[in-house]
Amino acid sequence: MPTAIQVIRMEHFNIASVLACLAHCVREIEAGRWKVDHQLLAAVVEYLERYPEVYHHPKEDDFLFAAMRRRQPELSKKLDMVHEEHVKGGHMLSELRQAQAAYSLDSNGWARFKTAAEAYLVFERRHMQREERELLPLALKILHEEDWKEIDEAFARNDDPLFGSDRRQEFKDLVDRILELAPSPLGFAQREAVA
Ligand SMILES: [Fe+2]
Ligand SMILES: [Fe+2]
Repeated sequence: MPTAIQVIRMEHFNIASVLACLAHCVREIEAGRWKVDHQLLAAVVEYLERYPEVYHHPKEDDFLFAAMRRRQPELSKKLDMVHEEHVKGGHMLSELRQAQAAYSLDSNGWARFKTAAEAYLVFERRHMQREERELLPLALKILHEEDWKEIDEAFARNDDPLFGSDRRQEFKDLVDRILELAPSPLGFAQREAVA
């Protein structure tokens, strides 16, 4: 299995874990079982806004999908669609960030935050599923050994300012912070029932 595919799957797993945390928070707040921690919601949104944008999508668009386009230009339409989803996801996250900021100032902002969070959860899970089910198997089928060598080398560059080791540590720290603040059973914080 090419390293690049393993890296992309691992990053999808990381994104899915933070999405599960967001879904858990929304459910707990809705059920009145958790006193909302705006620091946690802000950290979750920050992670979702930065990790795919800065770290994950460039790997897909600039290396993996670019190589697929070169091998099979007729895939352009399909790959354009996935790229458009990256752009749309960015817009949805900007709404989620604004909704979270407004909710942190006024509890009446809950409905807007919940709507934005649920819309993004459905959208991003579907997007990753499409990549896992359609695009990664297609890449394995059509790319040649020399393509994988080039892509794997790009992914492995530890000094790369975009996805090198410093950047990896930065996101790991953010995930640690999310886990510290997240309500159990996902995170380590005690659940505080709303009076
Ligand atoms: Fe993607
Ligand atoms: Fe992806």
